[in-house]
Amino acid sequence: MRHMTLTGSKDTCKIMLGESLGSLGDFCDKEKTVVIADSTVWRLYGKQFSEYKTIKVNANERYKTLETVNIIYENFSSYELDRSSFIVAIGGGIVCDIAGFVASTYLRGLPFAFVPTTLLAQVDASVGGKNGVNFKGYKNLIGVFNQPQFVLCDFELLKTLPEEERRNGYAEVIKQALIGDASLFSYLETGYEKALALDNDAIEKVVHDSLSVKVRIVEEDETEQGERRKLNLGHTFGHALEKTTGLRHGEAISIGMVVAARLSHARGMLGKEDLERITAVLGNFGLPLTIRMDKEAVLDALRKDKKRADREINFVLLEAIGNARVVPIQIEDLEGVVDDLCDCS
Ligand SMILES: NC(=O)c1ccc[n+]([C@@H]2O[C@H](COP(=O)([O-])OP(=O)(O)OC[C@H]3O[C@@H](n4cnc5c(N)ncnc54)[C@H](O)[C@@H]3O)[C@@H](O)[C@H]2O)c1
Repeated sequence: MRHMTLTGSKDTCKIMLGESLGSLGDFCDKEKTVVIADSTVWRLYGKQFSEYKTIKVNANERYKTLETVNIIYENFSSYELDRSSFIVAIGGGIVCDIAGFVASTYLRGLPFAFVPTTLLAQVDASVGGKNGVNFKGYKNLIGVFNQPQFVLCDFELLKTLPEEERRNGYAEVIKQALIGDASLFSYLETGYEKALALDNDAIEKVVHDSLSVKVRIVEEDETEQGERRKLNLGHTFGHALEKTTGLRHGEAISIGMVVAARLSHARGMLGKEDLERITAVLGNFGLPLTIRMDKEAVLDALRKDKKRADREINFVLLEAIGNARVVPIQIEDLEGVVDDLCDCS
């Protein structure tokens, strides 16, 4: 078992790797705690937290909305929560994002913690203090920066994850490696079979090393004024794809990373060999590299992306594997790259 700490401007978050869900009671008071659980996770693992008051949430982007937030507020009100109450989210990124937002706003903020149950949530969504919901079809438009008190990663929970959810998680792992850890990237190039099989040593290394990149960046720039934008590698284009094609998050950012790598290469920032290594790793993890899509709809969604500043968008490009840079670009700069890689209709 390994522990890490993320020191935010207001709070410190303890990250426990390899701890078990069954030991949750060692870290919070059962009487004071309300669990917000993914309904699938509740069905699979509910016995391990049956002593807690529990609110179930369907993990679907369609429900990551203020309507769901409202329903949870109603439940909090009927449970008569007060400032000594504690909230624990048990689920993937959707449930953690919603629960963190609800906890941060009810009674002007209750303390909370996460037990992330997907690989994506363990390596990314549960750590860093971004909590929020979608609004009018735009991803995570409403939210807060607020750190959980702790994040408990139980690797055993990942064993029931469907194959496509493992792949989704690995998209974020690959992203983290590309931004800040060339040796993790090399490990993924040779160790992908063990990693996908969730071999114990592999998963501990992958989660630890990915989170190390994220923790380092978040500690430097908690509220995303500069350095933290690098964590959006593949996401600006990926979010537009998610919105217009219905691809899952990891699949969409896989294509977003290919776009970023190709644009980096086209601008002379990234060598051909690195570009090929990136597409090879994404392919080995079963992630998509191309998609049939309506190019105009995707570019239009990009124009409306909340990260847009004037006519330019902040795009994360690569200078090498393990080294990213945020560059303002025009949407038009993407057209050629998108034409090349897309099986456009
Ligand atoms: N806050 C952040 O910094 C941050 C970072 C990255 C992504 N996100 C957000 O995370 C969300 C995606 O998260 P996700 O990929 O975890 O998706 P998710 O929460 O939808 O979970 C994926 C699926 O796996 C199921 N599931 C969860 N745990 C399981 C388990 N142990 N066994 C079997 N099935 C299980 C869920 O019911 C769901 O069907 C997006 O909304 C994205 O915006 C947030």
